[in-house]
Parts: sequence; C-alpha cells; structure tokens
Amino acid sequence: MHDVPYFDRFAPLYDLAMPAADPADLTPALALADRPVERVLDLGGGTGRVARALGGDAVVADASRGMLEEAHEDGLETLQTDVRQLAVADESVDVVVVVDALHHFPARSTAVAEAARALRPGGVLVVRDFAPGTIRGRLLAAGEHLFGMGSRFDTADECAQRLDEAGLDARVLDEGFAFTVAGVKPGAP
Ligand SMILES: C[S@@+](CC[C@H](N)C(=O)[O-])C[C@H]1O[C@@H](n2cnc3c(N)ncnc32)[C@H](O)[C@@H]1O
Repeated sequence: MHDVPYFDRFAPLYDLAMPAADPADLTPALALADRPVERVLDLGGGTGRVARALGGDAVVADASRGMLEEAHEDGLETLQTDVRQLAVADESVDVVVVVDALHHFPARSTAVAEAARALRPGGVLVVRDFAPGTIRGRLLAAGEHLFGMGSRFDTADECAQRLDEAGLDARVLDEGFAFTVAGVKPGAP
C-alpha cells in the first residue's frame, strides 16, 4: 500500500500536528560521517520538519507534492521523487536522513539501497524510526493502520541489517520508543 496520498491530504495540517524535530536526536549519528558534510538529503522529508531542525540547508526529497509545497513555502529546496527510484546522482550527497518515514516506504530495502547509492564514500545514512515492540510503538502502528496506512515497522536490528545489506557499515545508536540507526558508506577519502 502506498501512503503518499494520505500525506498529500494531511500536508496543510502536518506541521500543526507534529512537534518540532530535535536536532540533538540526530547529532551523534551525523558525527559518524567520515567526510566533510556539505550536501544533506532529507529523504521522505515531507514538509521539511527535520531539514529545518538541521539548519535549513538540506534538500527535502519526497513523493508527496502537498508535503513539498509546505517545505517550499518555508524556503527549503525540494525534490519530488520516489524513494524506489531516487532522482539523485550516484555518490552526490554526504548525509541522508530518513526520519519517521522508513515505515511508510513501500519498499524499504530498495529505498535504503537508493540512499546508499546516493551517498559519497564516507557519507552516512541516518534512519530514525519507531520500535514496533514497545507499547507506544504498537499503539502508533495500530493507529496508522486504522487510518488506512500501510505502515510496516522495522526493529532497530532489522533496520541495521537492511543498511548492512546495502553495503553500509551500520550500527544502532539508541533504542527506545524511537531508535536511531546509522550506516557509513565505506571508502572514505
Ligand atoms: C510521517 S512523514 C515524515 C516526514 C518527515 N521526515 C518528518 O519527520 O516530519 C513520511 C513521509 O514519507 C513520504 N513517503 C512515503 N512513501 C514515499 C515514497 N515512496 N517516496 C518518497 N517519499 C515517500 C511521505 O510522503 C511523507 O512525507
């Protein structure tokens, strides 16, 4: 199932409903980049909630035109693209962040492989998502399914394995209701 139409409809309300992203959640993962960070891709970035928290220089990539319109109105650079066929050149970005989005992607391994392809050697993919084994995680999954979404949640270990399979050197950085997994692309300059 494809969740993008839900986000198109929900886009004008999204930033009102969501708390601001906390950059501190991502700082330890971003620090793993083994190269200078100039180009950041906020993948499944929606309205740019995370790009704004990171300082506004990230390109917000998403399939939902409605979500990207909100990001564009905030002055963020946007790219309408599907994660399964990312319209981003090979080895052209230093960091890819995927926050609260992997579980909405229709083909998680393809999305991770595409993110890994876009990374320069030494670059880092950071995934932050929700753990399905926690009480809050189960409630979130049930709520999204009730809403009609096709959400499928990885555990932190499953997510790390997905990043490893895409050729990244993956590790779990924190684990609770939300978890953070980071994967560094080998071959740093
Ligand atoms: C819950 S939102 C998260 C947005 C943002 N990362 C944040 O934390 O606020 C999930 C996003 O994933 C996007 N998405 C879902 N499937 C996608 C796909 N196949 N390609 C690109 N984006 C997709 C949706 O359009 C939506 O904007």
